Amino acid sequence: MARKDLLDIESLERRDIESLLDQSVPFKELFTRSVKKVPALKGKSVLMLFYEPSTRTHSSFEVAAKRLSADVTNFDVGQSSITKGESVRETIETLQAMRTDYVIVRHKNSGLPGVIARHTKASVINAGDGAHAHPTQALLDAFTIKEKFPDPSGRKVLIVGDILHSRVARSTTMILQKLGVQVAHLGPGSLVPKLNRDVTRFTNYEAAMDWQPDIVYLLRVQMERQDVQFFPSLREYHQLYGITDLRLEQIRERGLYIMHPGPVNRGVELCDSVMDYERSLINDQVENGIAARMAVLYWLKPGSEQQDP
Ligand code: CP
Repeated sequence: MARKDLLDIESLERRDIESLLDQSVPFKELFTRSVKKVPALKGKSVLMLFYEPSTRTHSSFEVAAKRLSADVTNFDVGQSSITKGESVRETIETLQAMRTDYVIVRHKNSGLPGVIARHTKASVINAGDGAHAHPTQALLDAFTIKEKFPDPSGRKVLIVGDILHSRVARSTTMILQKLGVQVAHLGPGSLVPKLNRDVTRFTNYEAAMDWQPDIVYLLRVQMERQDVQFFPSLREYHQLYGITDLRLEQIRERGLYIMHPGPVNRGVELCDSVMDYERSLINDQVENGIAARMAVLYWLKPGSEQQDP
């Protein structure tokens, strides 16, 4: 069913997810053509409202919107009146007057995209809010996994690292569970909260490998969100939970895939050689992000009734 906003994965039905993943396939095929644009959103306007840094999500949404022929405006938060104390709501009212069709928002505060969605007729897409949700990352992750495992039900994905501060871990765990994938979390006990009873928790790398995952999904250690020290040192983290050269060899022998949402901390969650590993899906994730985000933009209906999150 079409909707106005995409704020999280929780509110999506399995059939919505499957339809978005199916729609991503023809959009990805478009990338191999000489003309990579379709007129689906011609005349529509997309506003990028990023209050936090982003490389992949920002550029991927911009490319996705342009490939659908939408007009894209980058709202420069650093140059806006927000720096003079203007509230987000006032900013949105200003933007509302501009009759933007889509607002893509990233903010450090969980729930802020939902607040914006309630104050605008535009379709709001959450591009990451605090430790809450990153729904388009989850969609591109699921799409990437489905390319390797067309029926992912029953497959096993081990998510490693800073689960506590990770909106990616929350959204990707949720989408995978909705698709019938088994999910486990591994990391220092202080960074692996009990998210839900269907997620298996590990604090020991070898025990997690004995669970026999198909995919090892590494998370970035988010030093900027850690107000207290959750583990002794980055060096120790790498030795206990990082993919070292030795662990990469074991992963290669088992034929496992490796994923990472980026940006990567080399020498922390992985060693340099992971980037050249033949079953690394990290670059596939970046490419698939454009197709998945095109599918989201194409699906949402600006101006329609807002669904309760
Ligand atoms: N995966 C992700 O959200 O990356 P960026 O912070 O570069 O957008």
